[in-house]
Amino acid sequence: MAFAVIALITAPTFPASRPAERARHGMVVSTNPYASDVGREILQKGGNAVDAAVAVGFALAVVHPAAGNIGGGGFMVLHDSASGREHSIDYREMAPASAHRDMYLDEQGEVAPERSTVGYLASGVPGSVAGMHLAWKRFGKLPWKDLLQPSIRLARDGVIVSHVFARSLKNAEKLLSRFPETNRIFLKGGELYQEGETFRQPELARTLQRIAKKGPDAFYKGEIAQLIAEDMRANGGNITLKDLADYRAKMRQPVQGTYRGYEIVSMGPPSSGGVILVEMLNMVEPYPLTNLGFGASRTVHLVAEAMRRAFADRAEFLGDPDFSEVPVAGLIAKSYAQQWKPGILPDWASPSSFVSHGSPAPGESADTTHYSVVDADGNGVAVTTTINGSYGSGVTIRGAGFLMNNEMDDFSSKPGTPNMYGLIQGEANSIGPGKRPLSAMTPTLVKKDGKLFMVAGSPGGPTIINTVFQIILNVVDHGMDIQEAVDAPRMHHQWLPDQIAAEPEALVMDVVHALQNRGHKIAYRRRIGDAHCILIDPETGIRYGAPDPRRGESKASGY
Ligand code: DON
Repeated sequence: MAFAVIALITAPTFPASRPAERARHGMVVSTNPYASDVGREILQKGGNAVDAAVAVGFALAVVHPAAGNIGGGGFMVLHDSASGREHSIDYREMAPASAHRDMYLDEQGEVAPERSTVGYLASGVPGSVAGMHLAWKRFGKLPWKDLLQPSIRLARDGVIVSHVFARSLKNAEKLLSRFPETNRIFLKGGELYQEGETFRQPELARTLQRIAKKGPDAFYKGEIAQLIAEDMRANGGNITLKDLADYRAKMRQPVQGTYRGYEIVSMGPPSSGGVILVEMLNMVEPYPLTNLGFGASRTVHLVAEAMRRAFADRAEFLGDPDFSEVPVAGLIAKSYAQQWKPGILPDWASPSSFVSHGSPAPGESADTTHYSVVDADGNGVAVTTTINGSYGSGVTIRGAGFLMNNEMDDFSSKPGTPNMYGLIQGEANSIGPGKRPLSAMTPTLVKKDGKLFMVAGSPGGPTIINTVFQIILNVVDHGMDIQEAVDAPRMHHQWLPDQIAAEPEALVMDVVHALQNRGHKIAYRRRIGDAHCILIDPETGIRYGAPDPRRGESKASGY
């Protein structure tokens, strides 16, 4: 009874933007309605969740070019209901062979403005096509070419420009107008697309057709590889034919943890997402967050203190596991989280200057987009994919019609100097040939009693990990339904800068004062994340699709 009363007074005080979408069989949730519908159609044609995820990935490359891509990379975490096992695929971009530690520094040894973020030098070797193909080869059911047909059609016949897409192009106008091919395709040679117009991409349609016909070889060895290498050579870029031929997507061991009886399965290095997520969940697990309440100053304080410490560890220990030893097991151990506990004081924000990384046991060793898929058999897929900044490096490969990433900026161009997300990163993430830059992408599955319960993830650079963290807390500790959990206002702490960045609705004035009294600095951020999640009701099996309302045109498409 006492518990019920407490739960009542701590229940969230805001309504969800809309009820979550319900479906009995399959569900696809993404940032774009065309893409979500493509995924649902593939499921209805008999494809499984991986088939749908592959088709959605290619569709997003057409309809959401700010982040959907074939010129970038990503991570997929999947649950195979037949075996009850999880797998993860790393198709993160890779530094070209000529990359070196100081390639973005000027003569004075300072980070040269824009060198790692704009133009030909900013790109790593794209991984998306290899990643989609590996996922399909291992787990797909439908023929490969069938998964590309919808996106070929969308590119060739065009899509209707929405208000959100028109606004996104307008916001990126400065970057897009700097490169003639990009300017021609995305700005009609100097004129903004308006809502209601048709946006066609014939070059991209041809590129996708080649991939449909010849598989990833078209991209990494064939005509598309030629186009990339030529464009790079002509414009001072450094991705070569050999870099492309050498690229491999990799099966990786997913990171596994538990939180209050739920199993957490997420992406391991070269993403920091899963490790930091599990570390933070372990840190807050001893505290009665349900009783403290959503949005209460003690809750926000504890959560921020966990974020601060985990992000200090991120800066020190995380990088490409093929190049440096990442103590994954040490960082996600419950006993390691316990070591932080004495330093987390209820009424005092530890200044980040006092907090440095911990000592885990050595182990054996502005755009991204996330989408979630569940099929009728209970398979689930979480994919987060990116070209890093909105519209990546701004470069469109001439003749191939797709944008390249600026993922090289996710390395530490100069260890100790902030990157475009203000992240301070260490030696473990310094640049090296063939190395993959550290990511924060956190495609995540949550299981209950061995069965898939939730699929989650988000864009947002370093805020991604904290977005997924808070959505899990919202469901598990604060009793929210999945749409409430996605809609609920968010906050973010990343160790440095030493501040809580919060969406304006996240902290009422009272709470702001209570946090300031503990020594927290508060900053505001308009929107954190764009998390498209699915929850499966363990009793009924109903799939609840919860699109994030923050970026304006997300959609849950189920059947
Ligand atoms: O991999 C990463 O962590 C970043 N490249 C993600 C960038 C991102 O989420 C931008 N989105 N808003």
